[in-house]
This record gives sequence, C-alpha cells and structure tokens, in this order.
Amino acid sequence: KVPERLTVSHTALQEEGLAERCVSVPIRQATDAEILLAHSEEYLEAVKKTPHMSLDELRTFTQQYGDVYFHPNIYHCAKLAIGATLQLVDSVMTGKVRNGMALVRPPGHHSQRSAANGFCVFNNVAIAAHYAKKQVLIVDWDVHHGQGVQFAFEDDPSVLYFSWHRYEHQGFWPNLRESDYDSVGKEKGSGFNINVPWNKVGMENSDYLSVFFHVLLPIAYEFSPDLVFVCAGFDSAIGDPEGHMCATPDIFAHLTHLLKSLAGGKLCAVLEGGYNLTSLAQSVCQTVQTLLGDPAPQTSELNGPCESALESIQCVRSAHKPYWACLKHTATRKWRSVFCIVQLLKYDHSSCLINLYFYFDHYEYTWYLLYSNVFGEASITLSYFITRDNFFEGSAEEDALMSLCSVIALFEKMKKQEVNFMEEMYVMFYLTFNAQHLLCTVYYYSQCVCVCVPPQGCSDVAGLMQAVLCLLLPLAYEYDPGLVLLARGPGSGVGKAAWAQITSLLQGLAQGHTLALLQEGEEEAVGTTAASLLGDPAPSLGPLGAPLPEDMEAMERLRQRLQTHWGLLQNAGEQMITASKETYSVTQMDNNILEN
Ligand SMILES: *[C@@H]1O[C@H](CO)[C@@H](O)[C@H](O)[C@H]1NC(C)=O
Ligand SMILES: [Zn+2]
Repeated sequence: KVPERLTVSHTALQEEGLAERCVSVPIRQATDAEILLAHSEEYLEAVKKTPHMSLDELRTFTQQYGDVYFHPNIYHCAKLAIGATLQLVDSVMTGKVRNGMALVRPPGHHSQRSAANGFCVFNNVAIAAHYAKKQVLIVDWDVHHGQGVQFAFEDDPSVLYFSWHRYEHQGFWPNLRESDYDSVGKEKGSGFNINVPWNKVGMENSDYLSVFFHVLLPIAYEFSPDLVFVCAGFDSAIGDPEGHMCATPDIFAHLTHLLKSLAGGKLCAVLEGGYNLTSLAQSVCQTVQTLLGDPAPQTSELNGPCESALESIQCVRSAHKPYWACLKHTATRKWRSVFCIVQLLKYDHSSCLINLYFYFDHYEYTWYLLYSNVFGEASITLSYFITRDNFFEGSAEEDALMSLCSVIALFEKMKKQEVNFMEEMYVMFYLTFNAQHLLCTVYYYSQCVCVCVPPQGCSDVAGLMQAVLCLLLPLAYEYDPGLVLLARGPGSGVGKAAWAQITSLLQGLAQGHTLALLQEGEEEAVGTTAASLLGDPAPSLGPLGAPLPEDMEAMERLRQRLQTHWGLLQNAGEQMITASKETYSVTQMDNNILEN
C-alpha cells in the first residue's frame, strides 16, 4: 500500500543531507532457510506460488487472510525486505556500522507463522531477531499492535517485545484480546511481552515519553539486550489517518536517543507503517539524524501524561510487577538513601529552584539555589544557600575562586557563541572546583539542569539507574533546560559504564548542550566522559539486579512527593495519587525561601 512511502522518506533524507552521511548497505534476497526461521514451510510454499497466479487466483488466495493484498510482485519485494533487514543486522553485529535503519516494504510486524496479515507477508523483524541469535529487545512504536511478533516470541525469554498500540478497549484493529496489557508472555517467556494499550486517541509526546521512563526503559535496562530492534512505524505520529495520535515527529529523535543507550548502541530500526507522507518523512529524518549522532531537538511543553495513558501505564506496571525488580517497591515511612537526587521545583516561568539532596551516612546536606532566566538579561533575582555541617571543609578557597572564574569565562563564551555546540564542538572542563561555587555559576546560563554525583555511595548501579530513568530524566525533560551541567565529585564510586550511561542519556536534553565538570582526583573519568560527549555509545551495564529496597522506598517517596509539580513523574491513575501533607509543606518551605 502506497509505494510513495519509501520514495518520500528517501527523498527527504537526501534533501536534509542525511542520506549522504549514511553508509548504504547493499540489499539481497532472503533465503528459504531464513524465511523458515519465523514461518512454516507450508506457508512459504503457498506464497511462492503467488507470482504465477492470475488476478482471480490471487484474490481467492488473499481472502483467507486478514487485511492483506497480494500483488504478483509482492513475494519478490518481501524477500528483499527481509534481506535488507538481515544485511543491516550483519553490518551492526560485525561493527561495520554502529546502527542503522532499513527502509523496506512490505512491512512485517503483523505477519504470523502461517499467515499474512495487515499488509505484511513475512515478519521481517521476527526473522531478524531469530537470525541474530542474541538477547534481543524489540521496541514496536508503530501505532498498531505487532501481534505477529508477540506470537513469535511469547514463550521466549531471550526476546523482550514491547509494543504500544491504539487499542480503545479492543475496539481498534486487530481487535485482539491478546493485545491488552495482561498478555505478559507465556511459560518461560512470562514477563517478556509488554503491551501498552492506548485506550484513547490523541496521545502526545508526554504520553510517549512517560511510557519510556516508567515502563520500557527500567525493564530494558534490567533485561540488558545485546541488540535493539525498532519496529519503526510512524503511523503513531501526528496527522496519520490510521493512528489519530498527536505526537510530533521530533519525539522520535528522543525515543531513538533513549534506546541508543542500550546494547552498546547497537540498534536496527526497520520501517513498518506510517501513512501521512509529511509526518512519515519528517519522522524518518528525525530517527536517522539521531542515529547519526546529531543532538535531538529541544522538547517543549511537556507535562504529565493524560489520565487514560496513566491508567494504561499503571496497569502495565502492575501486570509486570511479578517479573521485574525495578517495578517492585513499597513506600513506607522510612527515609534513607545513599545517593544524590536532583530535585527541581517549578516556581514560575522564568525561574526555577534547584534543590539538591545528598544523602549518605544518614546526614542530609541540602543546598537551595534560586536563579532566574538571565540569559540576555542582567538581572539575577536571588540566591540562597543552606549548607549543613562541614561538607566543604578542606577546600582551598583560592583554588575554588580560580575555578569559579574559569567556569564563568566558559559561560561567557557560550553566551557570545564563541563556543558553538551546534558544530559538535563539545567542551569538557577539567579543574578543581568546589561544589558550592559550581552551583553559584549556574545562573550565568539560563534554564540549566545541574546534576551532581556526590562523593561515595553510588556503588549500587541498579539503584542509580533507577533514579536516573524514573526521577532525573522525567524531571529534566519536563523542565526543558538549555544546558546540562554534569558534575562529578571525588571518589564518587560511579563506575565507568554507569557514568557513560548518565552522560549519554542526559545528552538527549538541551539539544545536547552538556558541560561536564570533573573534580581533581577524577582523572580516570576523563576518557570516558570525553568519549561520551563525542557521541560514543555507552557500554552496556549488563543485566541489572534489584536495587536496594531502602533506595527504592526513598525514590518512591520522593517521586510521590514531587509528582504534583512534575507530571512526567506520574506513573499511576488519579485514584492512586494522594496529595500528601508533606507535599504541601515542601511547597510552603520553598515559598518562604523566595520571600526571604
Ligand atoms: C499530515 O499530517 C500533517 C501534520 O503533520 C497535517 O497537517 C496534514 O493535514 C496531514 N495530511 C493528511 C493528508 O492527512
Ligand atoms: Zn501500523
């Protein structure tokens, strides 16, 4: 259906200058043996006869399947579509290319073992997942349920299949009971099939990102794939006559960026649906541009997911709770954590309160910093610090002053555009600094998210990643900063791989404008940080175990407290959200600070 889908996508890639930056991989025909990886012999033999059938015979043949039309040429095209996908897998697995996208027709994700379905003849991605013989994550962001992929791997724990799809309580094609959230996989594969049903149309960027933050990414990190496939259907973008969703094409840059942090960056996107040619071409360009390593565009006006999306998220999380440690938590009154969480509270449009909590050894250190949007203006409204105990003891005042001057000089350069991030010239700063002074410099740049990794206590990678995925990223995305400032203190205990993950994930924000600051004594992290800023994929962390229960509790309580300010932190429907008194008192405290 609609051959222009390929030509408009390819033309757009050429016009944007993206095609010439890609390596073209020659395509080939799939062999019978490859097709049989996911299909029955009987079905293959039947499809093989279609090029020789008369139109009448073709019509009769077609009628036994659902929503599919056989053209005499389709068998040939379908074999090329699989061949192209497999060539991509080979190129990525041998390291010839880092990642890639296969622009193919016909699509594949509805096709089943012995049946064509929904314009799909053979299941390109299911065949490729078998072919790769690896631990595979398949992310199906097409607006339709890829039931063919689900059926192919339902009892297979080596393939984690994720699909979101227009469902409307079984009212939307393919109208299957099995597309609902409670189809979690079977037998050994229980927990390895994730369905997120959209029960309303009009889902937006915030809804898509929420599902990534609160469902897909935590589970995917725990699963730790060797290779990521995307069933890249763009009928989930705005303007599509099938999907009726409202997510904009640039959301696919962010979804791609977030997935690139998995599997050491090995990602194969394979085209599925997408029937609005404008939206399709733009979305393909966004995806390819991000695969090439360009910064994702700024996200704006993100807020919480809609009520229907929240209900779906809640249902999926509860259905998968038995299988994934990252979904298990019990919110009790205990309040202890061993790592830092960045907390941002909205104040008004032009200013923001950054509130950093450092918990370790039961001591709580808190800074408050208020800054206004002073980019281009001279007014700094107010800054206010609270420090407790002697956290800064031992820092040489003179060194700190020097560092402060250097950082300010760098910010000045950014303001004058002497340092141009858009030309992929990233700046890494290596100097002695004092955390207090670092925070002072934040208001030289507007709308900044500052992430400080504290000394000690980050050794639990599972907990750290949970905090990054479920707290930090949603907050930071909703805040929509112009710069990410990433600071690493001495002896932070964060391993190279985890540090690369954090650095890499945060580059999805602020159009990739990232400033990393490493304190003296952290020379070891310089190489990793530089590689990550230059766009090298973060190494895989391996399967993550369960975070410490006390960390999970602390994070859950913080999330609950903040979700009234920050919609992207919500992960459950309204009846679950209780505005606690604590939330109120935090807000009060912030207001007092402002009034002072
Ligand atoms: C395609 O989507 C765009 C929005 O991206 C919309 O303005 C346009 O009307 C749509 N075209 C068709 C043919 O539906
Ligand atoms: Zn589709």
